[in-house]
Amino acid sequence: MTAEEMEKTIREDHHDEKYSVYKTNSFYWNTKGNDFLGAIALPFYGAFISEEKCHLFGDVTGKKLLEIGCGNGQSLQYHGERNVSELWGMDISEKQIAKAKQHLTECGLSAKLICSPMEEDCGIPEDYFDFVYSIYAIGWTTDLDGTFYRIASYLKKDGFFIFSWSHPIHKCVAAENDMLTFNKCYFDESWYSVSLDGGVLSLSDRKLSIYVNALAKTGFVIEQMIEESDDDLFSCILRS
Ligand SMILES: C[S@@+](CC[C@H](N)C(=O)[O-])C[C@H]1O[C@@H](n2cnc3c(N)ncnc32)[C@H](O)[C@@H]1O
Repeated sequence: MTAEEMEKTIREDHHDEKYSVYKTNSFYWNTKGNDFLGAIALPFYGAFISEEKCHLFGDVTGKKLLEIGCGNGQSLQYHGERNVSELWGMDISEKQIAKAKQHLTECGLSAKLICSPMEEDCGIPEDYFDFVYSIYAIGWTTDLDGTFYRIASYLKKDGFFIFSWSHPIHKCVAAENDMLTFNKCYFDESWYSVSLDGGVLSLSDRKLSIYVNALAKTGFVIEQMIEESDDDLFSCILRS
C-alpha cells in the first residue's frame, strides 16, 4: 500500500467510526434520553461544582448564549431566566431538542434550537455569541479539535467558552474494599461501548492533556480549570 492509499484508508476508517458513533449515540438519546442518567444541568456543572459557588458566567444580562448538547433544555431554562438577549441550543438528538422546546415553552421561555452533531456545520452564526457553553456534552464529540474550532468561530472576539465533562481519571479508578484501584489505562482513548438501561452508548476517554492542547491549538486562553471532589468520600478513603 502506498502512503497515499494508507492515508485514504485511515481517513475512511475515521469517517466510518464517526458515523457509527453518531448513529449509536443519537439512537440512545432519541430512545432513552436522560431517563437513566438524569439531567446534569445548571446551576450544576456536575456533582460537586455549581455556578452559584464558582460564578463562571457572572451576570449574563443582555448577552447572547449558545449551548452545545443542550439535552432537555434545563440549562437553557437557567439562563433564560436571567435576562439574556438571545438563547440558542443545539443537540444531535431530535427527541432531546423536542423535549427542550416543550420544557422551555412550559417555562414561558424560548430559544433557537438546532438538531445537529456538534462536529458539523449547521448554520450557527459566526462571531456572534458572548458565551458558548456545554454541560456534560463536549466529550461525546468524535472530533475534539474540529468542535473547538467551530465553537471558537461562533464566539465574538473576547467571548467565553465554558464547559464541564467527566474527569478522565474517574474512568480509570474504582473504589474496592475501601481502596482505590486502577482498572483502566489512562492512556487508552479508543472508543468503547457502554450498556446503560438496556441501551448502548459509544464513548472515548480522552486524557486531560488532549483537552488542554486542543484548546490551545484553537487559540483559547484557559482562565480556570476546576477539579473538585466530595470531601466526605475523600477523607473516608484517606482514613482507611
Ligand atoms: C448528558 S447529556 C447533557 C445535556 C444536558 N446537560 C442534560 O443533562 O440534559 C448529553 C447530550 O449531548 C448530546 N450529544 C451527544 N453527542 C452529541 C454530538 N455529537 N453533537 C451534539 N450533541 C450530542 C446528547 O443528545 C445529549 O442530549
